[in-house]
Order: sequence, then structure tokens, then C-alpha cells
Amino acid sequence: MNDHIRKILFTEQQISQRISELASTITADFNASGAAPAVVAVATGAFLFVADLVRKIHLPITVDFIRAESYGSGTVSNGQPLVSFGLKLDVRGKHVILVEDIVDTGNTLSCLIDYMKTNGASSVSVCALLDKPARRKVHFQVVGEGKFYRGFECPDEFVVGYGLDFAEQYRNLPYIGVLKPEIYK
Ligand code: IMP
Repeated sequence: MNDHIRKILFTEQQISQRISELASTITADFNASGAAPAVVAVATGAFLFVADLVRKIHLPITVDFIRAESYGSGTVSNGQPLVSFGLKLDVRGKHVILVEDIVDTGNTLSCLIDYMKTNGASSVSVCALLDKPARRKVHFQVVGEGKFYRGFECPDEFVVGYGLDFAEQYRNLPYIGVLKPEIYK
């Protein structure tokens, strides 16, 4: 598996360090506002990120998962994400933090933010481990006093590992790396 990776972008240690910083910021922000957040992670890509993040957030929180499909097995978004697996918990009146592995075109987040608004969330923040601003097509907006928490800016390359997949593979790599183009071409 490792020989499918062209280069490592973020090591296990860098990821862990950055998640500690994000969790401290989130803890401080929500302590200051007195709101207990409802964490909603976007499956499947955010499963490792959310597990590591919530263990470092020192607040009373709830955790739920939502699923939005936009990729299939290719490397380019089809641009039409759909909520294919909805929430178990009620977000009405709650301060939601959407936890996402990577923001690429912004289509998925924009769809999920609308979904939270429709379901009555008081505010919607976004916590994304990676952000690929070069590929943004939809400028999503956080809701109410919500904030955008971002782990790392990611270059415009297809990355895998730490939850991110290509055709459902590589999610279990402990680091984030760039896949060799010959693997997906
Ligand atoms: P968006 O809707 O285009 O912003 O895409 C968001 C989703 O696309 C993410 O949650 C990922 O599942 C997937 N994605 C975007 N870029 C990559 C990448 O470089 N590697 C793996 N998955 C990606």
C-alpha cells in the first residue's frame, strides 16, 4: 500500500498536533459562548478525524454521523451530493459542528449546511481537516455565530489516508499522502 504513495503531505505527528490545536480552539470558543455543540461527522472520510478530535474537545457534546455521496469511485466530484444517510439526533436549536475530511469544490458542505438549516440548527460551524481552496466552486457559508475551523491547506492533488480514500482503499493509512497518478489513471 505504501508504495502507491508518491509523497507524504502530513505525517501522523503533524496531524495529531494540528488536531490538538483545533480541539483547543473549539473548546475555548464554545466555553466562551456557553453553547454545547452537536458534532456531526461526514461519513466515511471523517471517521478517524472525528474520533481523534472529540477526544480532545473538553465540552459536553453529542456525536452523530451523516452521509453525503458525491464521488463514486473516481477522483473528480460529480457535483451533485445527496444526503443518503440522515441524522439520528435532532439538531433543532443546536449549535452544530460539521466535521469533514476535506473541502474540495464545496458542494458537499454547502448541501450539508442547507440540510442543517432546514432541520432547524441554531448555528452551523465547519471543522475540516483539509481545505483545497484552488478547487472551490461553491462558497459555502457558516450559519449564525458558526465558524470555519481548518486543519491544513492542501495542494491541488488527489490525497489519501487518515480516512480519505480512493475507491474505498487507503483509509487506514495513518498519514495523508498523494496517490501516484498511475494508480488511478
Ligand atoms: P466536495 O463536495 O467537492 O467539496 O468534495 C468533498 C468530498 O470529496 C470529501 O468529503 C471527500 O470525500 C472527497 N474528496 C475530495 N478531494 C479528495 C481527495 O483528494 N482525496 C479523497 N477524497 C477527496
